Amino acid sequence: MKTLIVTASAVAALLMAQASLPADEVSAEAHLAARHVAVMTCATCHGPQGRSIMPKFPALAGQHPKYLAAQLQAFKAQTRGDADALGYMWGMAAPLSDEMIAALAGYYGAQTPGAGSSGDAGAIARGADIYANGVAAEGIPPCIACHGPGAVGTDEYPRLAGQHAQYLLKQLRSFQNNMRNVAVMHGVAQDLKISEMESVAAYLQSLR
Ligand code: HEC
Ligand code: HEC
Repeated sequence: MKTLIVTASAVAALLMAQASLPADEVSAEAHLAARHVAVMTCATCHGPQGRSIMPKFPALAGQHPKYLAAQLQAFKAQTRGDADALGYMWGMAAPLSDEMIAALAGYYGAQTPGAGSSGDAGAIARGADIYANGVAAEGIPPCIACHGPGAVGTDEYPRLAGQHAQYLLKQLRSFQNNMRNVAVMHGVAQDLKISEMESVAAYLQSLR
């Protein structure tokens, strides 16, 4: 009887692990291995503890684990497909197991985000207005509705605060032209002008 219960719960645990594998179900060994991979490999581009220094490479520190895991799965499945995703991340994600992806997402989610950096004051002010209010005349919704006050994100929506403007701008253009094919953000970005993208990116980069 006892064996039966143990077996049933083991099977349930396995099925649950396959379905989602939240960070708290990752083994201690996988956490250690993820830390090693992060320090030895990912840090080359994404910086120490995911606090990226170079604007081409997104900061990962403090990003929500669910979002991070979904992106790594999308690189692995080759569904997040602009040139830089293909060139840099498809190869990185290909060998990662589901458990390793969950562990890496947990590792970066637990790091303290780096400070943002300031830019052109006029662009930042215009960007703050777009972030809070959208652009009604162009049918652009307020970003705050999903990405939240201070752009810190939620479990469902990525953190944008303090991210490099150059990276953010590139993503907005990729959503617009569907190279990064996500319906909700295509809808948001399809009518954004380049100058509006630049402003909102400058604003987001300035946040901490
Ligand atoms: C050689 C440089 C390089 C290395 C090494 C690298 N990455 Fe990346 N990574 C990139 C680039 C460039 C992008 C942005 C791709 C794009 O523009 O779509 C990116 C994007 C990402 C994203 C998406 C972030 C977001 O905000 O959507 C995640 C998550 C990520 N990388 C995780 C990792 C992990 C984990 C590792 C180590 C296993 C790693 N990367 C190693 C260059 C690299
Ligand atoms: C209806 C909800 C919603 C609204 C409104 C919204 N977003 Fe998003 N945004 C999302 C979702 C969902 C994602 C994650 C997409 C994915 O899974 O790849 C995202 C992703 C992003 C990313 C990519 C982040 C990264 O690390 O690669 C950027 C940049 C972004 N949004 C900017 C904006 C801006 C700027 C606005 C306002 C003009 C905005 N969003 C409005 C839902 C929204």
